[in-house]
This record gives sequence, structure tokens and C-alpha cells, in this order.
Amino acid sequence: MCGIIGRVGDGSAIEPLLTGLENLEYRGYDSAGIAVQNGSGIDIEKRSGKVEELKESIGDPPRGEVGIGHTRWSTHGPPTDANAHPHTDESTDVAVVHNGIIENYVELKERLAANGYEFTSDTDTEVIPHLIQYYLDAGFDSERAFRHAISELEGSYAVTAMVSGEHVLYAARQGSPLVVGMEDGEYFLASDVPAFLEYTDSVVYLEDGDVVLVDEDGVEFTDLEGNPVTRTPETVEWDPEQAGKGEYDHFMLKEIHEQPTSLAQALEGRIDTRNGRIALSDFEPGTFDDVESVQFIACGTSYHAALYGSLGLNQAGVQSTALLANEYSVAAPPVDDDTLVIAVTQSGETADTLNALRQATAEGARTLTVTNVVGSTAAREADDALFIRAGPEIGVAATKTFSSQAVMLTLLCQRIAADRQGEPPADLESLLPAVESMPSALDEVLESSDAAAIARQYDDSQSYFFIGRGLGFPVALEGALKFKEITYEHAEGFASGELKHGPLALVTPETPVFAVFTGQEDEKTLKNAEEAQTRGAPVIAVCPDDHAAVAVADEHLSIPATESELAGLLANVQLQLVSYHAADLLDRPIDKPRNLAKSVTVE
Ligand code: F6R
Repeated sequence: MCGIIGRVGDGSAIEPLLTGLENLEYRGYDSAGIAVQNGSGIDIEKRSGKVEELKESIGDPPRGEVGIGHTRWSTHGPPTDANAHPHTDESTDVAVVHNGIIENYVELKERLAANGYEFTSDTDTEVIPHLIQYYLDAGFDSERAFRHAISELEGSYAVTAMVSGEHVLYAARQGSPLVVGMEDGEYFLASDVPAFLEYTDSVVYLEDGDVVLVDEDGVEFTDLEGNPVTRTPETVEWDPEQAGKGEYDHFMLKEIHEQPTSLAQALEGRIDTRNGRIALSDFEPGTFDDVESVQFIACGTSYHAALYGSLGLNQAGVQSTALLANEYSVAAPPVDDDTLVIAVTQSGETADTLNALRQATAEGARTLTVTNVVGSTAAREADDALFIRAGPEIGVAATKTFSSQAVMLTLLCQRIAADRQGEPPADLESLLPAVESMPSALDEVLESSDAAAIARQYDDSQSYFFIGRGLGFPVALEGALKFKEITYEHAEGFASGELKHGPLALVTPETPVFAVFTGQEDEKTLKNAEEAQTRGAPVIAVCPDDHAAVAVADEHLSIPATESELAGLLANVQLQLVSYHAADLLDRPIDKPRNLAKSVTVE
């Protein structure tokens, strides 16, 4: 996700830049840096680690009035000092901070390297200062050099740049947020309002395609070609304390609502609907030719994503199994070098998952991790890594990372099946457009959800059951886990066909049953739901509006119609919202549930 800040005004820029970075740390915290104009050049201070560590490491702070800063959440390259922003050209004439992904950075880097420009980091961002320098070297003034460089970028970006000796910041937005803060004589650019809320509440949210020039006299709003555009400042009425959560009461709710954006970011450049291909650039076609079987290892919510991947892989014709990482040492099936072991872990630091990963490595398996944290132990220790690019998740209960894990695993599994079978799975053609529209389908769920009313309606129940079949089963397990961890109420998830093999004994009018329909043998799930309903349990169907279950169920939570590989993930968002609202009614500490930690680094 990354956070960027820029400041122009009177007096030292250091304090507002560092305050801005601290306020943006919820957007990323694996490295941080600042660049400040010092009168004769640009001073850079940057390092891996948190903003606090950057602050401690700055001895004699640079004194300029104009500067930029960045707090990073890695997407390209591990969180090292060299990969920290700001990035510069070789002579530090240009400094740049960036949030987003430059999809064509490899081509740009090759072209610039062929022209003698030397790169020192693994990041996509570093092409931007070199590209600006390339145009400066060609005789363009700074503004035109910036515009030319921006016009060559493909992908998503919020960029802020400065050129040595100038009291100006140049910025551009395409697909990643960027907001301008305005106070008499002092101006800010940032990824989000909390960065500068201590200094001003007058803001302009930039739009895609905007390019702005900021100096101490004001802000010039233009399009890429330099034509003026009108942007009107508005006043934000947030308390700085609350601002990291924006308009939301809890990080969990914010993160639930971030899912359309975080998933779009995960998918960026990874599907090619026009040519019917999955474009996971780290894995060339044929990468998985030799894989005979796949074992997924994970814990908690990540285990549910792993189970989702494993069931999808089985359905695509490849033998696979999902195992709880903490059971792996006693229950691992045999592995050899044709076995691919996939560790699914948001943090990349879960001790149980790392132990299982190490065991699989020691026994000769090929390993891959699916994780959110680029520099994490799992990413470093596995043979390969697939990053889910969800941005930092602050709420202890995983939400947006589950959705991104499950979608990325769905794509990865299709790639594995295609390599194994020598041709893409038959339904890939219809799946890819559905994957592409997932962010807007998630938006639809979030905008029209009745989850708050359902949570209220059943708030004095005794126990909450969640059922699903096929890909609906891991969603049922995840629905129940989310419910129990933040409400502290009893909740259980079952394969819908299992209900009659024992759990039905618990069913009463006090046990609402949430039934997830994904299009995989839904008539059987409906029958199982009716078996509970006959015993008095209210049934809440999570399905599209025109589904047969709507007429049978007591209540309905609506999801847009989509492919069966994805329907459960839309249903999951409805269940996340039910859990959230139920916990809110009970006044639970939603972001920090009792006894739980975000990253479990003990066995
Ligand atoms: C539940 C939750 C946990 C984690 C589990 C594994 O909401 O977040 O169950 O999924 O502790 O953590 P990671 O994914 O970091 O390995």
C-alpha cells in the first residue's frame, strides 16, 4: 500500500514530514525515508524498519523547507535500505516517492540501463527518477521532464518528485490515492489525509490523470498535457486521533471496505483476459510441469484460504491436500521433489507454518509461499513466493488478506493445472472475466449489505452455525472463525452434508444457520439447510437474488451472481459484515480481540 508525504512551506520540513510518516504507518511499515532540499542539493535519509527507527537514525536533521517522505509496504524487492524510498538518479538531482505498481518497469529499466543509467535497487519505483533525469539530460525543463516521464508509466501510481535546487514538488495520480493539503503558505501532498491533519483540514482529493505543481505560492492543478483542471478544496471534519481509520469506527471495518481496492491491487497485471491467460510473471508457463501433487500448509484464516485453494486444485484435476501447519509434524503425507508444498501465511512469520515449511524443505519438497509480507521469513525461506499485495492489515481478525489469498490461490491453482495438463482448464475463459470483475462485485456487496440488520435480528441467539459445500465449506469455516473471534459467542462451521451426522443434535430455534451457496450442488445444501429449519433453526441464505434458496430461507443476504470458483468469496464478505456488526452490538474490542495476536510466533 505505502504512504507518501510531501511538504512545501516556511521553516524546516523535517517535523511535518516525520509526523506525516508516523500518521501513515498504517499503510506500510517495512522501511521509511525522507528527502529534503538543503539549498545546494538534496539530503536523503532512508532505511529499512519503522519510522521510529528512521527518526532515531537521523543525527543532524536536514534543514530544508521542501521535502518528501515515504513509508513502504514492499511489492517489488525486500525491505532493505537500498529499496527504501525516496529513490534518486545517480547524482541525487531528482528524488521520487511512489505508491502503486509500475507494470512496464522492466522495459523502462532495460532502456534506461542501455543508455547508461545505473540502478541500485530492486524496485519498480527507481525507473521514475532515472526517467525524469533522462529527460532533464535531453534538455527539457523540470516540469516537462516530469510530464514526459509520467506519460511513459503504465500501471498504478501516486508519485511525488522534486528536483535539486527547486522549491517545487511535482505530483501525479493514476489509480493510487493522492490528496493535497492547503494552508496559507504551507502545502502538502499525501496518500491520505491523516498525514497532515495536524497542520490543515483543507484538502483536495486528486483524480486519475491529475498532475500538480506545488510551491510556496500555491498549487497548480493540471492534466497530463498541462491543461488547467478545476479542483475545489473541501474541509475534512476528522479528529486527528481517529484519522487512520478514516470514516470507520474500527480498522476491521475499514479493511473489509478496502477489499475492492486491495483485490484490484493484487490482480494488477496478473490476468490477461484478452488472451485468456493468467499472467503471474514470476511463474513462466511450464514452471509447474513436474508437480505431481500439492500440499498446502497454513493456520487459522490462512488455513481456510489454503483449503479453498486445495479444493479448487482438486476440482481442476490436480491431487492436493490442505493441512493445518501445526499438525504437519505428526501428520504430513510423504513428500518428494515432485511435491509442491505451498505455505499460506499473511504475515509470513507464523511459527507453526514456518516449522512445517522447514520440515517440507528438509524432506526434499519444492516450496512456495503465498504471503502479504515481501521481506517475511516465509518469503525468504521458500523456493518461490507469490505476494498478495493487500497492504498492512491492522485489525487482528484477517479480512482483506483472506480475500486476496483465496483469489490469488485460485489463479495459482489454475496455472498449476494448466502446466500439469499441458492446456488451460476448460472453464478458464469464463473464470478470468469473473475474476476481473470481483472488485466491482465486492463493491456491490459492501454497498447494499443487510448484514447489520441480520446481526441485530439474531443478536440474542445461543450459537451460530455456518454451512457450505465444496468451495462453500472453507467459507463456512471462515465465517464461524470470524464470528467467534470477535463476538466471543459460540459459532461453528460445517460441510453442509455433515450437519446430519451429529451437529443437527445442537440445532434449535436459538441457533441461526447461515447457508453459503456457491453453485456447487446447491440443491443438496438447500436440503441440509431445510433439515435444520425443520428443527426450528432460522436459515439465512447467502446467495444471488434469483436463487431457489431465497424462497425457502427465513432471511437472505444477497451476492451478485458469479462463477462458482468465486461466489463463496462474495458470501464471505457478507459473513465478515455479520460478525463485525454482531461484535459491535456487543461492544467488543473488535480490532484487538481478547487473547489473540496478529502474528503468532510461538508454537
Ligand atoms: C484469524 C487470523 C488467524 C491467522 C493465523 C495465521 O482472523 O487472522 O487465524 O490467519 O494466525 O496467520 P498468518 O496468516 O499470518 O500465518
